[in-house]
Amino acid sequence: MLDTILDISKRRGIIYPSFELYGGVAGFYDYGPVGSRIKKNIEDALRRHYVIGEDCLEVECPTLSPEDVWVASGHVTSFTDVMAECEKCGEPYKIEQLFIDAGEQAYGAKISDLKDIVEEKGIVCPKCKGSLGKLYDYNMMFQTFIGPGKYKTTAYLRPETAQTTYIAFRRLWEVARKKLPFGVLQIGHSFRNEISPRQGLVRLREFNQAEIQFFMDPEDKTAPKFSEVERIKIQITDKKDREHDLTLKEAHKKGVIKDKVIAYHSGRAVQFFKKIGLNPGKLRLRQHHDDERSFYSSDTWDVEFESESYGTIELVGIADRTDYDLSAHSKISGEDLSVNIEGRKFIPHVIEVAYGIDRPFYCMLESCLKVEDKRTYFTFPRQVAPYICSVFPLVSKDGLLDKAREIQLKLKSQGLFVLFDSSGSIGRRYARADEIGVPYCVTIDYDSLKDETVTIRERDSKNQVRVSFDELSLKLSSPFSSL
Ligand code: GAP
Repeated sequence: MLDTILDISKRRGIIYPSFELYGGVAGFYDYGPVGSRIKKNIEDALRRHYVIGEDCLEVECPTLSPEDVWVASGHVTSFTDVMAECEKCGEPYKIEQLFIDAGEQAYGAKISDLKDIVEEKGIVCPKCKGSLGKLYDYNMMFQTFIGPGKYKTTAYLRPETAQTTYIAFRRLWEVARKKLPFGVLQIGHSFRNEISPRQGLVRLREFNQAEIQFFMDPEDKTAPKFSEVERIKIQITDKKDREHDLTLKEAHKKGVIKDKVIAYHSGRAVQFFKKIGLNPGKLRLRQHHDDERSFYSSDTWDVEFESESYGTIELVGIADRTDYDLSAHSKISGEDLSVNIEGRKFIPHVIEVAYGIDRPFYCMLESCLKVEDKRTYFTFPRQVAPYICSVFPLVSKDGLLDKAREIQLKLKSQGLFVLFDSSGSIGRRYARADEIGVPYCVTIDYDSLKDETVTIRERDSKNQVRVSFDELSLKLSSPFSSL
């Protein structure tokens, strides 16, 4: 499956490794012309899910920030992985990954304990069997500088969007008219100098995040719309590795998911993944072990996907970050970030819903790929497909080419993303559109010139219907079953 996805992706401009001309660099991928369209549609669907669906505000902040931000957040001291290099071949390893591969647990263990396990279990370099050198903490942030000479200051590329949202809290509080709760979405690039990224879009050094920070009153962490998600059934693994197959309502009632607000946002994430075409049967919900959680969180749950190619993939993390971040920024900046509501002064708590975009993008490719005897295609839902349709003239003569161009222009003028294809047989043109998941093909033939109608062919069923020029854009934007 991975080979098919990568072959189509490279050939058709969905994704491909960056910097290929210069030999490539692990952990960087380009979104090509088709992939960029799909990615933007995923981001837009997410925007609709949260800005429209949850009344979130949206912000966009710089990707580079001064050191103070990351000292306050704890990332300068704690955003680390334990690593070691092979003494023989020099290969660098993330110890956690080596432990997972060897069937060992490494969460939260101190370097001295990890060193003992490496010795006890005889963990060596998987490549050349050389012994591992000194274990040390490796900070994953990319460091750089802002400005020259005496103005030069240390800075970091952000490893998460969250902090850049928090530091503008005062402004956001004003915009939200000093009422809790309110959510703030930020979609943008984040950077982590991962030790050895070898899993395509799953582990990148520059990646896309869409993180929502819900600022809440700690005494009122409610979820008033819980009934909208309570019937979602999902396989759940709690922090003691106990398995449950429950609806979210049952999971909350039985205390498996203690906080309703976390259960609610897990349900909203599952709804979003279904909307963009991920196979719901492959989604799971997993609580972090106590010694696995990030330093800022009191409870974290991940929605994961069981990938055929990469095993379990974390798609989104839902964390109770308490008042950790706002308190830390208050302390280091010297500015009081508490709020005063009816005489009660407190620092708001944050429930964070932290999506990556690249991992769901890959899981969508995997979920939507269909390989049949005579064709290979992606069943992308219309709202994330790269183009709504491809327009074909049956032949490129007798005025059909001009008429097809006219139809394409008309659809484009209505704001639709539309392809045009006049080369090769109609069968070849269907195959080209199917291969990048275009939901409809519109053919202009000799009858079109007489009665102003066209044929629409739907990608998945291959059903065809005849519609008039005037009805075309309406039909393309309504479900095919209503044609
Ligand atoms: N602000 C919290 C935070 O950053 P995280 O679990 O480290 O939490 C959130 O990251 C999401 O970002 C993940 O669920 C994943 O989808 C995505 N992500 C994290 N590191 C990534 C990487 N190296 N490559 C691609 N996506 C990544």
